[in-house]
Amino acid sequence: MRESPHIPVLLKETVSQLITDPKGVYIDGTLGFGGHSEAILQRLEPTGMLIGLDLNPNAISFANSRLSTISDNYVLHLINFKSFSKILFQNNIRNIQGFLLDLGLSSALIDQPDYGFSYRNNGPLDMQFDRNGNNSAEKYLNQVSEVELIRIIKLYGEEPNAKKIAYEIIQRVKIGKMKTTFDLKDAVCRVVPERFQNKALARVFQAIRIKINNEIEILHRTLKLAVEFLNTGGRIAVISYHSLEDRIVKAFFKSNSIKCICPPKFPLCSCNSNPKLKKISKKVIIPSHIDVKENSRSRSARLRIAERL
Ligand SMILES: C[S@@+](CC[C@H](N)C(=O)[O-])C[C@H]1O[C@@H](n2cnc3c(N)ncnc32)[C@H](O)[C@@H]1O
Repeated sequence: MRESPHIPVLLKETVSQLITDPKGVYIDGTLGFGGHSEAILQRLEPTGMLIGLDLNPNAISFANSRLSTISDNYVLHLINFKSFSKILFQNNIRNIQGFLLDLGLSSALIDQPDYGFSYRNNGPLDMQFDRNGNNSAEKYLNQVSEVELIRIIKLYGEEPNAKKIAYEIIQRVKIGKMKTTFDLKDAVCRVVPERFQNKALARVFQAIRIKINNEIEILHRTLKLAVEFLNTGGRIAVISYHSLEDRIVKAFFKSNSIKCICPPKFPLCSCNSNPKLKKISKKVIIPSHIDVKENSRSRSARLRIAERL
């Protein structure tokens, strides 16, 4: 078999804490090239099951050949992870024991110019995870207003030069020069001083990608639904790669694990709070120096795990 183009991040930390019952059903919502799924499947007993989901057909086909050498108690589907409950209904499964999301881009997606995710390669300004989608970055930039674009670059990219960048992008849209990743890169580099360009490029590409794939809303909705399907004692693990995503996961776990929201001076609890989750590690889990040395793309990874009460 071909070597995987993607090194799984925080592999041991994630899988060892995600699996609490080797006979359970586990969903890997971001299957990718199957790095995490392989380690999950290796730990499952014959009555356990893995469900792998991804929007990338190449990744699914690679993962399939990788997993088929281990066992056959898995199914893979080309579907957005937000729709995982459809697959559960189709397979007559009521509850799951674990849910994993390893968000963001695989190395292969970053390196493939036709996806348009990276400013390092020239390619169409696409940026959609879903190859059948109808909302490319080009289409989005050609219809968005300048005010809205400033908002998106600030909100999802936390980029201080959002105003100047949005202005430059819109000027280029007006003359029909916003079709490729290098068109977008040129617009950013035109208005940002050279020493800040790499950071600005990463932030602007990230912001537009998050917007057109509706990543924040989908993450929030999926976390909420996943909790409803988890068995008591089942776990949800999320690896995120930027602060915005991590803040959402952190806030979601916190708000679902608060035991009492009564003011401290109340002698008795009257809020009837009903926490659904318990955080597994108090602190966020990050890769070791050795991991980062071996796989520089893991440097921004943050893992959070919670257990269903
Ligand atoms: C960081 S990679 C996962 C890598 C994987 N854990 C491995 O070890 O090979 C993220 C994957 O999530 C997929 N993805 C992103 N958003 C998705 C979504 N909403 N639904 C399904 N898959 C998605 C991407 O296509 C990509 O393959």
